[in-house]
This record gives sequence, structure tokens and C-alpha cells, in this order.
Amino acid sequence: MITLRSAVVSAAKTQSDVVCIFVFEDEKIFKVQTRKLSEIFPSLGVALKSDTFTGKFQETQTLFPSEMKAKLILVGLGKSESVTLERLRRVAATAAKTANSLKAKSLALFEPSPTNLQAEIKGSAEQIAAALAEGAALASYKYRKYLTTEKTTNATLRVVTLCTEDATRKKSVASGVAYAQVVTAATCFARDLANAPPNEIYPETLARQAHSVGRKNRFSVRVFDEKKIARLKMGGVLAVAQGSDRPPRFIIMEYKRGKQSSPTIVLVGKGVTFDAGGISIKPAAGMSEMKMDMSGAAAVIATMQAVAALKLPVNLIGLVPAVENLLGGRAMKPGDIVTHLNGKTSEVDNTDAEGRLILADALAYASRWKPDVVIDLATLTGAVVVGLGHHATGMMGNAQAVMDQLRESGERTFERVWQLPMFEEYEKQNKSDVADVKNSGGRWAGAITAALFLKQFIGKYNWVHLDIAGTAIMSEALDYVPRGASGVGVRLLVDFLQRWRGSR
Ligand code: BES
Ligand code: MN
Ligand code: ZN
Repeated sequence: MITLRSAVVSAAKTQSDVVCIFVFEDEKIFKVQTRKLSEIFPSLGVALKSDTFTGKFQETQTLFPSEMKAKLILVGLGKSESVTLERLRRVAATAAKTANSLKAKSLALFEPSPTNLQAEIKGSAEQIAAALAEGAALASYKYRKYLTTEKTTNATLRVVTLCTEDATRKKSVASGVAYAQVVTAATCFARDLANAPPNEIYPETLARQAHSVGRKNRFSVRVFDEKKIARLKMGGVLAVAQGSDRPPRFIIMEYKRGKQSSPTIVLVGKGVTFDAGGISIKPAAGMSEMKMDMSGAAAVIATMQAVAALKLPVNLIGLVPAVENLLGGRAMKPGDIVTHLNGKTSEVDNTDAEGRLILADALAYASRWKPDVVIDLATLTGAVVVGLGHHATGMMGNAQAVMDQLRESGERTFERVWQLPMFEEYEKQNKSDVADVKNSGGRWAGAITAALFLKQFIGKYNWVHLDIAGTAIMSEALDYVPRGASGVGVRLLVDFLQRWRGSR
């Protein structure tokens, strides 16, 4: 994990191995910036005049000024009117990757001159610093735990310093960087949990991870074992878990730093530590991806960590039903009927629709806290991946105000969500002849029928369901999201929780 720092300093005076200056593409600004650079670093005269580098978005040029030990990289920002917080994350990602390929251990990122930025982000030194720091830290992530021969392990970027030359911005830059440190550490922790192999992370060890996060960040963690789960009659959790030799766990995390009058929010994360599909077994190709079927759980645990580290004034509960969905002589079968915590029954039409079976119990259990809002995160359906691909999380629920706020948080953090309808006409696809509801709604609108199944089990609270199957598991890398687990949900939820002020 990258250490993030901030400093008031000038480019020639940094102690970092690599110094990055972001350069605007606009001709006038470009000229001013390069003239200033040639004044500070006269040795660069010719190199700066070559017109190969024009400041286009994410274009890079590496320079070796003799005036300082550090290498200098120029990274294009594109035209000033096109600069957004997301573009800042991406150019910082480019800078971090370039620094890494130069074998740098430390990188100084200079914030672009605010006078050249659009009015919307100009005022906010804090957001600019946070975005740059986030991009650099998230882009530097790699899951290395089991790479025993990789030589680059200790030759990689360690420290990124967000630099400003304007002392009046010192405080804002520092607080943006502090925020970024917390959310990127939590996001990378969520990535680590989801990327970890299923022989390392199974229900008991996932619970152990939650325990250790709670201990370090001073929130309470309780874990129910299979006996307690049976006593509570969490039939869905038991049914899915019965096919595995690894017993289920039900994880309860409680962070209470709000006033008594402040809202209680419950987060629920799908914790299927491996999803083979059960008797309705999945095809072999790509099945290993299903070690990441606990990405919702990872996001919830990591969000608890971030919220506690930031000491946000909220009451936050995290619930994780944790199971393995395997095959065996005791595994649940298509046709089985399960009785859930709230007494409702569901027919197991497809054992691969296991996520909704365990979430049903967790959503019913959430009522105990009389929450204002319950948000569940789950890698729930292949259908949402077909519908939205890897660039938007599917969102459904009964609370439009909460969903609107989540949508805004999604735009800000670029962990975007997109609402799908829950028209009642879809409901008949979940109809069962023999139980209250059936766990698969057939081929069409699979993300929606899954949400409508969950709706049967919610209590009297505002509820939002986030289907992260497409956004949590990346088959290709993005600028600051590597292939594999993205850690999606953490930055989204922290932004939301920071702004959420009760039902409106
Ligand atoms: N974990 C899967 C959903 C999934 C698929 C996540 C692809 C990430 C990538 C879930 O448990 C599942 O198998 N869902 C089934 C439901 C169906 C049987 C009704 C699906 O989407 O095919
Ligand atoms: Mn499944
Ligand atoms: Zn699953």
C-alpha cells in the first residue's frame, strides 16, 4: 500500500525520485507552463521545445534535468475545460505507472494551477488533492501476496507526495490527502480480500478478517457460528452452507459514533467465498472468478474500516452472511424448500441463485436495528453484467431519495450506479407453486427479478440493492482499476455516508 503525503514545496526542491508536472493542452497555458519549466531547469531547453509532447490527456514525456537528482515527468491533462475530478484520478494513475516503470520509490505530484481549472472544481483544493492521490494510490495496487519470485516487489513505488506551491492551500491539500489515504487503503483492502484465493478466504477466515479490522479500528464485531445461525432459523444461510465442509458464519459489525437522533444505516454484503453453483453447477471455464463472489462482503468490511478511521458521525451496522456454495452429498437440491428467518419460504429452483437465499435472512435480520436505511451490495447476477457491463452498478430499491443520493455519490467517486425498474409486472416470474417465492425468475430481466426476490424479505425501512457483479469483478484493467477485484463500493459508500443526513 502506498503512503500518501502532502507538502508545500517547489518542483526543483522535492526529495522524491520522480517529479510529475501536469501540463494543459491549451496552447497559451502550455507555453506559459513550459517557459516556466525552462526557467527552473535551463538544461531542459531543447527537450522542452520538441513538439512531440503537446499536453494531450495522459500523454507523457520523461525528462532528465541536470539541475536536480529527480527525473521529471510531464503528464498531459488535455484541454482545461475537459478537466474533471475523474480525469485527475486518471492522469495521476498515468503518473504513478510511469514513475513505477522508472523504478521510482517516491513520486511528487504537483497539483495543476487552480487558475486554469473549471469553476466547479477550482475552489476545492481538497477534492483536487484527494482525486490525484486516489488515482496514484489505486493505480499502484497489485495483488502480490503469492508471487514468490517477482523481483519488483521491493522496487515499487512506496510514497506519493501531493505538492502545492501555494502555502494558503496547505491545509486543504493535507486534508484531501488524508481522506484519500483512508479510502484508498480501504479499497485496496477490499481488493485484497476478494483477490485472495478461496483456500485462504472462507467463512471462518473472512470472519477473522472482520474481527481484526474491528479491533484495529475500535468497532464491535460479533460472529455467529453454525449453531447460532440454526437457532436463529436463518434457513437460507444454512441451506447454501450445507453443501460445504466449511461451516457458515454470520458477521455483525457495529460502529456507533452518531448522536442518538442520527440515522442508523445497515450495510449488507454478500459473502459467498466461493460459488461453484452448487448442484446446478457452473461451467468450468472462468469458475475461479467466483472466489470474488464475496466482493459485497469485502466492500462492507472495508467501508466499516474507512468510516471508523474517518470517525464519521453515523451509526453504521455491517452484516455479512458468509458461506461457500459447493456440491456434495448434503448439498441443497433444486426443488428444496427453505424457510427463512422471517418465516417466508422459498423454493430452490436453481442452486446457483444462492446469493439471494443468504441475503434474504440478512435483510430480515437487519430489522432488529430499526434502521433508516439498508443498503445491500452483492455480486448477485450475471444478468446485470449483460445489461450494464463493467462500468455501472445496477441499483434498485424502494427509497428514491436514497437512490438519488447514491447516484450523486456515484458520479463524484466515479463508482457509478444506474437504476433499474422494479415494476410489479416482473414479480410473477418469481412465483412458485409450492412456496411463497421461487429463487430464480428465468432468463429475462434477471437482475430485476433477483431484486424483487430480495424485496420479499425486507422490513419497514428504506432499502437499496446494489448489484455489483459487473463492477466488482474486472476482466480487463481500467486506468486505476487492475484486472480482478476492483474494491468497488467503498469510495461510493463513504462519500454517501459522509453526506447522508437522514431521510429527506
Ligand atoms: N455469483 C453469481 C452471479 C455472478 C455472475 C457474479 C457472474 C459475477 C459474475 C450468482 O450467484 C449466480 O450464479 N447467479 C445466477 C442466477 C440464476 C441462476 C438465476 C446467474 O446470474 O446466472
Ligand atoms: Mn451462484
Ligand atoms: Zn453467487
